[in-house]
Amino acid sequence: MGRLDGKVAFITGAARGQGRSHALAFAKEGADLLLGDICSDIDGVGYPLGSPQQLEETARRCTALGRRVVTAVCDVRDQAQLDAAVALGLSELRKIDILINNAGVGSPAGPAWELSEQQWGLLLDIDLSGVWRAAKAVIPHMIERRSGVILSTSSSAGLKGFGWDANYVTAKHGVVGLTKSMAIDLAPFGIRVNCVCPGSVRDDAELDGRMLRGVAEEFGVPLESYEQEFASHHLLPALMEARDVSAAYVWLASEDCARVTGTILALDAGFTTK
Ligand SMILES: NC(=O)c1ccc[n+]([C@@H]2O[C@H](COP(=O)([O-])OP(=O)(O)OC[C@H]3O[C@@H](n4cnc5c(N)ncnc54)[C@H](O)[C@@H]3O)[C@@H](O)[C@H]2O)c1
Repeated sequence: MGRLDGKVAFITGAARGQGRSHALAFAKEGADLLLGDICSDIDGVGYPLGSPQQLEETARRCTALGRRVVTAVCDVRDQAQLDAAVALGLSELRKIDILINNAGVGSPAGPAWELSEQQWGLLLDIDLSGVWRAAKAVIPHMIERRSGVILSTSSSAGLKGFGWDANYVTAKHGVVGLTKSMAIDLAPFGIRVNCVCPGSVRDDAELDGRMLRGVAEEFGVPLESYEQEFASHHLLPALMEARDVSAAYVWLASEDCARVTGTILALDAGFTTK
C-alpha cells in the first residue's frame, strides 16, 4: 500500500533535479503523474535547463515503477500552455489531486538597483507568476471536486534576504504570501495549500540536478568548493538532498496532513534559524 495510491499529481519542472526526485517519490507511493517542463533554455538564465530527453527519462523511471505517466512540454510563463497540459492530463488520467509547483530558476545578477527590467521581470514571471498560473490551471477542477492539494517550492530565499539576488528573493517571498492567501481562498472548497522553503540542495548526478552549480557560477563561487561553501551557511554542515524535499511533499500530500494548510515549512538544515 502506497501513501498516495489512486492519486494523480501534476509536477512542473519535472525533467530533472528536485522535480524528478518528487516524481519518483510520488510514483513509489502509488501516484500517477502529469509531468511538465519547459524542456529548453531561457535567455537570461545562465545555465542550461531541462531537456526533452531528461523529461522522458523521468517519465521512463516512473513508468518502470508501474505508474501511468503523461508528459507535457509547458512553460510556466504561458497560461495557455499550462491549461493545455492540464487538459491533456485530465483527458488521460481523469483527475488531478495534487499540484507541485517546482519549476524555477535562479539568476543572481547584481545589487537590486542595477537589475534590468528584463532581469527583474524574468525571475518574477517564472518563480512567482508561474506558481500562480499553474494553480489557476488546476483550481477550477479541484473546486469542482471539492478536494485538492497545492504544494509549492519557495526557498530559504523566501524567508530571508540575500545580496545580489533581489529578484529571486522577492519572487520566493511572493510564493510564501501566495501560499497563505490561496490557503484562505481555497479552504472553503476543501483544497489545502502549503509550501516548502529548502536551503541549498545538492545537484544529485542521478537526477541531473544543475541549479546549485549554475547559481554558484553566477555568484562567482569557485566550482571546486561550491558545495562546501553553500553547506557552510547551514546549521548542520551538509547540503539538503532532493529526497528531503520529496519526503516532505509526500507527507504534505498524504492523508497524514488532511488538516494542514497555509503551512510554510523550512527544510534548510537550520539555515534560517541562525
Ligand atoms: N537547488 C537549490 O539549491 C534550491 C534551493 C531552494 C529552492 N530551490 C527551488 O527548487 C526548485 C527546483 O530546483 P532544482 O534545484 O531542481 O533546479 P533544476 O534547474 O535542476 O530543475 C528545475 C527544472 O525546472 C524547469 N524549468 C525552469 N523554468 C521553467 C519554466 N519557465 N517552465 C517550466 N519548467 C521550467 C527546468 O527546465 C528544470 O528541469 C526551483 O523552484 C528552485 O528555485 C532550489
